Amino acid sequence: MPQSSGTQRETWGSKLGFILAAAGSAIGLGNIWRFPYVLGESGGFAFLLVYIISVIIIGLPIMGAEMVIGRGSGLNPVGAFRKLAPKKLWWLVGGAGVLTGVIILSYYSVVAGWALAYLLKSAFGFIAKMANAGEASAAFDAFTANSPLVVMYHLIFMGLCLLVVSQGVQGGIERWSKILMPTLFGLLLLLIFRSVTLPGAGAGLSYLFTPDFTKLNGEVVLKAMGQAFYSLSLGMGVMITYGSYLDRRTNVFSSSVAIAALDTGVALLAGIAIFPAVFAMGFEPAESIGLTFKVLPLVFHQLPFGAVLSSLFFILLTIAAVTSAISLLEVMVSFASDELGWRRSRATLVMALAAALLGIPSALGFGAWSGFTLFGKNFFGLADALTANFLLPVGGILISLFVGWFWSRDAVSEEYKLELKYPWVYTVWIWSVRIIAPLAVAIVLANTLFKF
Ligand code: PHE
Repeated sequence: MPQSSGTQRETWGSKLGFILAAAGSAIGLGNIWRFPYVLGESGGFAFLLVYIISVIIIGLPIMGAEMVIGRGSGLNPVGAFRKLAPKKLWWLVGGAGVLTGVIILSYYSVVAGWALAYLLKSAFGFIAKMANAGEASAAFDAFTANSPLVVMYHLIFMGLCLLVVSQGVQGGIERWSKILMPTLFGLLLLLIFRSVTLPGAGAGLSYLFTPDFTKLNGEVVLKAMGQAFYSLSLGMGVMITYGSYLDRRTNVFSSSVAIAALDTGVALLAGIAIFPAVFAMGFEPAESIGLTFKVLPLVFHQLPFGAVLSSLFFILLTIAAVTSAISLLEVMVSFASDELGWRRSRATLVMALAAALLGIPSALGFGAWSGFTLFGKNFFGLADALTANFLLPVGGILISLFVGWFWSRDAVSEEYKLELKYPWVYTVWIWSVRIIAPLAVAIVLANTLFKF
């Protein structure tokens, strides 16, 4: 019998393991290729304040709400809503979450495949041959237009995720997070050391942090909220799924604070690793794809031991992507095993294959299918915009409304209060979940929709 048949659900081996796995999900491409640039462009320290406020008033409440649903039900997002609200349509929120996960994983894996390729290119000295920004940019465009190659790297990356997830929650996700996350922190510190000790590094730091409160307007505030949401992996059930493996000795509040703090910390550190080097070497700041694959390889390669530095950076990027991608895959796998009764090995194989196939249009979007665009975006851009700007915020609003207003008040309070030291935290949290977070996200959403 599938779905809550009474068989013992696997749990995390330790609280630290859970926090590293969840922080691994949160810390991803968003922290490295988007946050630092947006921070610098949108008011520096002033933006940082708005971002931190968004994490506190939207991120923490919704993350808590997801964990409470997960542990309270002990099931995947679809099963969870079905169990907690039988005969209601809430399970559709879980279903939309699983689908959103498939879409994000599909394009995430394409970018992660590029990172793998650039890791090899750096290590074997191909990038070292590029003399200037124009050549680096042309080389990247030529690489991403080579569809068979890009698809191959995409499949290799998905294969890696498959290997991790098929080993289970403790033996796969937790074990690898405990190895990869400390490695990521170490690499980041190393790159920071190199970057900030370069002559002229100060310009990068002032680009990042100089407060400019005049830049704060409605749009920037909305940007901060959207980024907090995406960066914390909220709105599609990662935290429901990871929460479903939580034991009853772990406190939701302290865990969510730790995860959000690690995520924000790494986003800031990524900025400190990247922009001082970019400025010191005389390059212009750029965002996402341009920054990561065109500017940075060149920046690193102009330094002594450039091939090593550039390889380390792409190892860092690959690790960040793997620990996020496995959380997405786990949502799908837990769905298939709880609801369809599949064994983990089969669930992982089928789901990874599904996401890999769906990723192929994104992979081709820069090559064979670059002619296909909608609203000026290729497949990759569409998948990213649809999920980040629409599906995740809608999911987040519905999740917080469910916990705040529809699910049993006693069950919610019992789950959240387990091991909670200060009862007033619950009061603040529940009102944030009921009103503040859904309202704030609704504003973000309305804004992106009206701009369309
Ligand atoms: N948090 C990840 C990042 O910052 C992206 C992500 C979103 C992962 C939603 C899982 C779910 O890159």
